Amino acid sequence: MRILGIETSCDETGVAIYDDEKGLLAHQLYSQVKLHADYGGVVPELASRDHVKKTIPLIKATLAEAGLTPSDLDGVAYTAGPGLVGALLVGATIGRSLAYAWNLPAVAVHHMEGHLLAPMLEDTPPPFPFIALLVSGGHTLLVEVKAIGEYQILGESIDDAAGEAFDKTAKLMGLDYPGGPLLSKLAEKGDSARFTFPRPMTTVPGLDFSFSGLKTFTANTIAANDNDDQTRADIARAFEDAVVDTLAIKCKRALKQCHMKRLVIAGGVSANRHLRVKLEALMTSLGGEVYYPRTEFCTDNGAMIAYAGMQRLKNGEHNDLGVKGFPRWPIDQLMTIKS
Ligand code: KG4
Ligand code: ZN
Repeated sequence: MRILGIETSCDETGVAIYDDEKGLLAHQLYSQVKLHADYGGVVPELASRDHVKKTIPLIKATLAEAGLTPSDLDGVAYTAGPGLVGALLVGATIGRSLAYAWNLPAVAVHHMEGHLLAPMLEDTPPPFPFIALLVSGGHTLLVEVKAIGEYQILGESIDDAAGEAFDKTAKLMGLDYPGGPLLSKLAEKGDSARFTFPRPMTTVPGLDFSFSGLKTFTANTIAANDNDDQTRADIARAFEDAVVDTLAIKCKRALKQCHMKRLVIAGGVSANRHLRVKLEALMTSLGGEVYYPRTEFCTDNGAMIAYAGMQRLKNGEHNDLGVKGFPRWPIDQLMTIKS
């Protein structure tokens, strides 16, 4: 079985074809970063308009890359949420319409389930059960994963998501959008010992996160110090250390609470090198393992949507003729797939 996956929930147009037996056959990505850079963040209307322009050409290019025609496909999966409603509706309308025209089932995919399952595309996929730390621009979630769709949310951010905190702090520091990777690069030259930022909500019980205070702490530290290159790098380092440490403390707590030794990290921030190193050290100390997607599949992409869509299609899940778009869609409302 082969499925086409379409991702348009935010500022990346992603398209991929996944084959149940052969794995990923082709994938293409168009990033809108340049389009939004002047505005310092994603402009939803511009994002939607650009998806309108890019999605069909990208689908054609992906089919060509795989050497396939629509008649070789068995389904069309598209991201139905959560995300920006206009952007979602572009992928959903195109995906649903192509499925109708090609007489194929259409599958509405949950974007965060796509992220959660992205490590399954790697050579050594994580076996169930595991704890998943999902860290993207829109969400920070700690999830107990017993099977595909059997998700219990253990904790989430009560304000900014981890990626959002990176981006907003980077903006404060005068870095371009999207600031996360740039802030992380700046932090590499920073000295960890110079500033110590708080580790929010780690001294209280529970698995929720709060990152918005770190932004204010960064602003105050910038105001109280010189603006030379080393100081900027030291501040970036202190911020990154605080986010990474906080995430690691909560992962350790979640693993202990659920008596597990397997951790999956996914979503844009899982590309962060410092976070990976920290969580690898944590899992070594606990005698467990950590799994994550290859860097290009940490951030938004069509491959994860095609993979998640394939699992849902094989489970007999596909939609009626409605175009599905859910800007808010809790991940624990998905159907469990019993193996
Ligand atoms: O998963 P994603 O592509 O989009 C959403 O679903 O939101 O995540 C994008 C987020 C952005 O906030 C970006 O700054 C952050 O992931 N990000 C990083 C890194 N690479 C991407 N944050 C920190 N360090 C990185 N290396
Ligand atoms: Zn995402």
